[in-house]
Amino acid sequence: MSTEQSAAQIDQPRSRAVFKWVLMIALVTFFAGLLFGYDQGVIAGALKGVGDSFKVGDTAKQIITSWVTLGALLAALVAGTAADRFGRRPILLAAGLLFIAGAVIQAITPGVEILVLGRVITGFGIGFASVIAPLYAAEMAPQRIRGRIVSTYQLAITFGIFLAYLVSDIADSAEWRTMFLLAAVPGVLLIIGVMIVPESARWFAKVGRTADARKSLAKVTEPADVDSELSDVEAQVSAEAAEGEASWSEVFSPRVRKALIVGVGLAIFQQITGINAIIYYANTIFESAGLVSTGAQTKATLYCVGVTNVLATFIAVAYIDRFGRRPLLFMGLIGMFVSLCAVALGFATQSTSDTGAGTSIVGIITMVGLVVFIASFAFSLGPVVWTIISEIYPGRVRGKAVSFATAANWGAAFLVAEFFLTLTSGIGEAATFFLFAAMCVLGFIFVWRYVPETRGRSLEEIQEMWNKGGAVSDWEKTAPKP
Ligand code: BGC
Repeated sequence: MSTEQSAAQIDQPRSRAVFKWVLMIALVTFFAGLLFGYDQGVIAGALKGVGDSFKVGDTAKQIITSWVTLGALLAALVAGTAADRFGRRPILLAAGLLFIAGAVIQAITPGVEILVLGRVITGFGIGFASVIAPLYAAEMAPQRIRGRIVSTYQLAITFGIFLAYLVSDIADSAEWRTMFLLAAVPGVLLIIGVMIVPESARWFAKVGRTADARKSLAKVTEPADVDSELSDVEAQVSAEAAEGEASWSEVFSPRVRKALIVGVGLAIFQQITGINAIIYYANTIFESAGLVSTGAQTKATLYCVGVTNVLATFIAVAYIDRFGRRPLLFMGLIGMFVSLCAVALGFATQSTSDTGAGTSIVGIITMVGLVVFIASFAFSLGPVVWTIISEIYPGRVRGKAVSFATAANWGAAFLVAEFFLTLTSGIGEAATFFLFAAMCVLGFIFVWRYVPETRGRSLEEIQEMWNKGGAVSDWEKTAPKP
């Protein structure tokens, strides 16, 4: 299949029927992300109410917050194997069911222990969704808009965070049970969506169900392209099948190692550059910008963080298949570096000369820094990382390798959540944010040295590039024109 696509061609799938199915697949991806994002955001609003109801201290609050991440990590590890064995749809259905169960348990819990159980079950649902939704989207999306479809996943995460902030702003924290129960809505939407969409054609081909693979592919491919697309997929699958069932040791074999390092590295850099610490710390930073009332801080968090996060993600959705993945990562990391330095300088100056009362120049710089940081993350590391992870692995090990990279992401998220407070009280806020800024520099070097451009290439062509050696400079030389 030709990879020379004009800008106009990537705007829309050409026929209405194909458009309808691609839209459905994008919607399923969207609901899965919504489920992830709502949960990330809701805890900020619900935690105070939970604390008041059960009279618990900081340790319990920290467990209530962070054990979702542990659940997600565990589920992410098994999600790929399960999806390779049973298909992508059953695991997405399980994600929806687990999420509904977790939401109901959290809403009706008589005490903290059951609440934590509900959080872990919710985490299982998020872990499944976070591995399988982008992978399913990448396997089903037409190649020319693959980045765009996969990045709707990140758009949904940001929209979920925004909705949760909005609910927290409207509702009183005493209504925390309702806040948790509302999380069941994306779970229900996901289940309805998954019942409608077809199973991944690449998975059908992998398990030898060629007729089903053709049917599934025909839904998302223009009729004239179905045959060539199917033979590409089949050639890849049979080359892989000749080697037998993929084992975990193969995920770490020299053949997959380069791709594994790229995925895991990106997953870790996405977290250690501080996104969730910033999201968590937003209120305090707005306080330093002179917003003294809690209401004003919640509003600032809702609009500056929540809305900026959603809007800037559209930049990625629009440009990821035009500019490519690497330019977005470079621009984003530069924006994140500069803004983190501004926030760090804000803290450094504030701790020595500012008393914190009233809106100061330093406070305003800090606030602008925060908005720039969120925006820069939202059009780069946020969506691009999930996209690249879902497209760079050979089909044989794709499920397991995506699982591993996603689990690394959750592991890093857990560590940042656990140690951020310890770090800020140990070395101070300024040094902590400078540390995140330093991670952006390392991230930049990592992307420059190791992350290939995957725009405009089919998943099969990406494999060929790895097979040829996978040096970033070779990928650049043969990159399809935007
Ligand atoms: C990250 C989350 C983060 C979110 C913010 C996602 O891509 O994986 O950890 O909270 O973006 O929008």
